[in-house]
Amino acid sequence: MDEHLISTINKLQDALAPLGGGSQSPIDLPQITVVGSQSSGKSSVLENIVGRDFLPRGTGIVTRRPLVLQLINRRQKKNNDVSKDLSNMKISSEDESKRADTGGQSEDNVEEWGEFLHLPGQKIFNFDEIRQEIVRETDKVTGGNLGISSVPINLRIYSPYVLTLTLVDLPGLTKVPVGDQPPDIEKRIKDMLLKYISKPNAIILSVNAANTDLANSDGLKLAREVDPEGTRTIGVLTKVDLMDQGTDVVDILAGRIIPLRYGYIPVINRGQKDIEKKKTIRDALSDEKAYFENHPSYGSKAHYCGTPYLAKKLNSILLHHIRQTLPDIKAKIEATLKKYQTELYNLGPETMDSSSSVVLSTITDFTNEYAGILNGEAKELSS
Ligand code: GDP
Ligand code: NA
Ligand code: MG
Repeated sequence: MDEHLISTINKLQDALAPLGGGSQSPIDLPQITVVGSQSSGKSSVLENIVGRDFLPRGTGIVTRRPLVLQLINRRQKKNNDVSKDLSNMKISSEDESKRADTGGQSEDNVEEWGEFLHLPGQKIFNFDEIRQEIVRETDKVTGGNLGISSVPINLRIYSPYVLTLTLVDLPGLTKVPVGDQPPDIEKRIKDMLLKYISKPNAIILSVNAANTDLANSDGLKLAREVDPEGTRTIGVLTKVDLMDQGTDVVDILAGRIIPLRYGYIPVINRGQKDIEKKKTIRDALSDEKAYFENHPSYGSKAHYCGTPYLAKKLNSILLHHIRQTLPDIKAKIEATLKKYQTELYNLGPETMDSSSSVVLSTITDFTNEYAGILNGEAKELSS
């Protein structure tokens, strides 16, 4: 039931993409939006949650378009189903051997793949290819020389290892323009982030490097602009391993610095050197676990630290949020459908262009297919 709820929202997200998608969507769907300064570790956190290497990441401005990432938990299929899928999959002989060293948590014979909304029907099993496609799509729209764009890339990851979640990776806050970036880059990125996080249904994942001062965090400042009470912001503290000896984040975790309702979770991602040495996510996760368990400041609370706890917490926050907002989403879908029907009616059948009719039929299909589900959910919630 829970998985079903999030997958309904995922389908809605795709159905609404032709209407502008992402930040322009007429219907505000619950999703987790990642904000923080450039190089604070946003993309690294997302990769660890997915358990696979697939995001462009590193020093400098790497994430330059929003990435709407739908994680779909998918149990392994029976063999005969797999063979059906194999017929339309894109696989190279390298895939299996690469999987072993880039594979994070993956094991042999486990199906994990990505699908881009702009490449419909194409399953990409090689996660290096997913990364290359993100880079290609980013450059296609931004011109390649470090420009930014608010047009989102939509990617679904199917895996038995992920919890069903929708996350949005966003460009980091930066002050000084480089490459083809306009002089007002700081304001442009801020405006882009605000478009995503100001929606009441956005859950803000505020990523802050633990080796910088939380009080000066631009991401947290921005989050507090749109969520002053901190009721839909969750804090992540990265780079705990890079803190000065003898310092820790215990005061932040205890809510003594800048309190947030959902609190803060400390994590350790791979450093630049680890990435160059091709340290696997599996090793990174087990090192992270050992670090917190053996650290004098965190040892007693180690199960509230680290990436697996973060993923669990995000999943439960998202579900809670979807349940709360379901009746409102349903009303908005119906209103949107009505609006488009009226618009098309007024245009008359002879002037109705094909793109608007595609949108209409998508929304109509969607409404017919999901009205029942949403009704059922709403009833269940109110009883
Ligand atoms: P983003 O710009 O916020 O998406 O940040 P990235 O995920 O691209 O990370 C920026 C750099 O910081 C990369 O070189 C990462 O390897 C490094 N990094 C991120 N998180 C950590 C961490 O927890 N510890 C260490 N040592 N390095 C990290
Ligand atoms: Na970066
Ligand atoms: Mg990034």
